[in-house]
Amino acid sequence: MFYLKLGGSLITEKRSGEQRVRDQVVRDISRDVRDFLHGNDIVLAHGAGSFGHIPVAKYGLDRGLSKGHEIEASEVFVSVSRLNCHISLIMQEEGVPVVPVPARSIFYRERDGHVIAHLETISELLRRGFIPLTHGDLIADCLSGVYVLSADEIPLYLLPLGLKEVIFLTDVPGVLGPDGRVLDVVSEDDVVKIESRAVKDVTGSMLGKLSRAFQLAHKGVKVIIAGYYNRGDLKRILDGEVGTKIVI
Ligand SMILES: Nc1ncnc2c1ncn2[C@@H]1O[C@H](COP(=O)(O)OP(=O)(O)O)[C@@H](O)[C@H]1O
Ligand SMILES: [Mg+2]
Repeated sequence: MFYLKLGGSLITEKRSGEQRVRDQVVRDISRDVRDFLHGNDIVLAHGAGSFGHIPVAKYGLDRGLSKGHEIEASEVFVSVSRLNCHISLIMQEEGVPVVPVPARSIFYRERDGHVIAHLETISELLRRGFIPLTHGDLIADCLSGVYVLSADEIPLYLLPLGLKEVIFLTDVPGVLGPDGRVLDVVSEDDVVKIESRAVKDVTGSMLGKLSRAFQLAHKGVKVIIAGYYNRGDLKRILDGEVGTKIVI
């Protein structure tokens, strides 16, 4: 099974904070999915980008839910669902049989930080030829009320579905080394040399992504972090021509 994540920074105006979707990028990726991943079991996901990171940081929801702030959390739930619906529509127009599945409807975080996943829905949808489309979300958390579940973290809970390969599409061509060039491969030893040049966001930006990527690689999953610029890039990534491969 493939997990393909469309980074929030790639598909929304995350840098400016504007709640707008880059429709053409989503459309091109949808066509690539239709053309190059046809016949595979795929779970698609997207980040929350400006629809999630901005309000989550504004209301401090990354520290959990405080009493009396339910309406602010509700704003985030609705905002990321709006983004999910918008992306779902584009994908459907391009012939991808997506089923919107908000992460909060299948994941729950226990007191000890353990995430419970109800995967029956996903496996049944896959069996019927659908493509679940999930997203970074706030999920119910037994201790703190809500937890920011990044779409970089979600694949860790999909291992029981036979997850083999994860592709994180983002707004840079891959993991950049100290000289600013794309690294073909990255190992845990390299991380100390990779300063995080971005403003930190609520899920840790590139360093957060790398930490999830190494966790996945340790479980035997092939992980690639790559940019998306033109139609056909998904094929170039699948063929190993572009992007950064995670090695352990
Ligand atoms: N060494 C690095 N290599 C690549 N990107 C980096 C690096 N350090 C920081 N970044 C930043 O990480 C960003 C990607 O992370 P993020 O914004 O979380 O993307 P996504 O929305 O795809 O999760 C890039 O836009 C870049 O600014
Ligand atoms: Mg991110």
